[in-house]
Amino acid sequence: MNRQPPAGAKKQHGRPQAHRKSPAAVEAWRGPVERLAWGGMGVARSTDGRLLLLESPLALFPGEVVEAQVQWKARHGQGRITGWVSRDPRRVQAACPVAGDCGGCELWEAGTHGPELKRQMVADLLRRQLGEAQAWSWHPAPASALRHRIQLHWDGATLGYFKRHSHALVPVWACPAAAQPLSAAIPRLREALEGRALPARPSRWELATGTPADMVYASDERGRTWTLEPDGWCRGDQPIRHRLEGVTLDQDPGAFFQVSPAWAGEAFGGLLRQWDLRGDTLYDLYGGVGFFSALLGDRFQHRILVESGEAAVAWAQRNLAAASLPAECLVADVAAWVPEGLGAPGDVVLLDPPRAGLEGTLCDRLLTAGAGTMVLVGCDGAAFCRDLQRLLPGWQLEHLAVLDLFPLTSHVECVALLRRRP
Ligand SMILES: C[S@@+](CC[C@H](N)C(=O)[O-])C[C@H]1O[C@@H](n2cnc3c(N)ncnc32)[C@H](O)[C@@H]1O
Repeated sequence: MNRQPPAGAKKQHGRPQAHRKSPAAVEAWRGPVERLAWGGMGVARSTDGRLLLLESPLALFPGEVVEAQVQWKARHGQGRITGWVSRDPRRVQAACPVAGDCGGCELWEAGTHGPELKRQMVADLLRRQLGEAQAWSWHPAPASALRHRIQLHWDGATLGYFKRHSHALVPVWACPAAAQPLSAAIPRLREALEGRALPARPSRWELATGTPADMVYASDERGRTWTLEPDGWCRGDQPIRHRLEGVTLDQDPGAFFQVSPAWAGEAFGGLLRQWDLRGDTLYDLYGGVGFFSALLGDRFQHRILVESGEAAVAWAQRNLAAASLPAECLVADVAAWVPEGLGAPGDVVLLDPPRAGLEGTLCDRLLTAGAGTMVLVGCDGAAFCRDLQRLLPGWQLEHLAVLDLFPLTSHVECVALLRRRP
């Protein structure tokens, strides 16, 4: 039911009138979704003009009429969609049996229209944060972009993914978003946990595979690793190997690597070639096991990689040496390591921080950098825009690209090419 203005409330021109209402009150709402906003939110409006932001457990098409549980604040409302009154004809049957319940993917029912819905969400963010005039390119994922890393939880009886907004488990027997060997390994992990062939105390488990996807690795919360052999799980400490874009990168199981490595290699590789990124020294900050240094190969004379994970740095050193790309690989906190005036005009500073983005003090120091070019990568669009805005007083945004590195979810990877302002 559309919410009516309280009796006696006068509609104002311009900003909707503030309403006094307990923020805790949750009520049923029904109405059309006008458009999509960042994070997969649907934007709707109450009859008195207040904006309503609706979170959806499944793909949402603009124009659909939905039912939701909402909470009203003074000038806007927010809530969760609980059902559909009218469905867009483009909606399809989800290919995953736990879609909507599992917290992992929300775009299954969008089918082939998922990338377009996602483009609309990104457009909303970039328009609001950087202005209507800001140009950007959109790089949708190919159907082959499956996950090479999944995190499952075992509570002593059930193996599954977390439910949306909960630590309750949705039992899973397969994952169609994951590379086939990983999906096929889920029942093997369950069997081993149930049979106590693997440590059966409650734990988070990561299943991962290399590129191409072949051997499957399971790591528990304590960092112990097993590989899946025909006769079961064997304790081991071999690295996971990724062959992409002509380079080979090894990493420890359980450590960070691109979720969909071949697609990430293709997408970043293509973009960095198109931007003709080259120079004297590459500062590969938050460098992991050397993904960007390796992708950029001999386009740089020197490379300095900074990363906080000791094991990742050791792998970066080995990976880059094996690719005949000598590099200085340092274990350090980037924010503490970056000095005032970093680099010279022929150098490139590439930053690929974790989801939270860059610290404010680091952005301030980057405003003093001597390097001529910067590439900022961010997997949280909002944090990325915040950091970009902090950098813009000293850096000119030349290109902005958004890569769909996390298909079936509302997450994306943003990449900016910046040049030092004179
Ligand atoms: C998004 S990942 C990027 C890794 C690498 N660029 C890649 O694409 O494979 C972020 C990396 O930053 C590292 N990291 C997190 N906080 C850090 C910090 N304060 N200083 C340095 N490295 C950090 C993590 O260990 C992780 O390897």
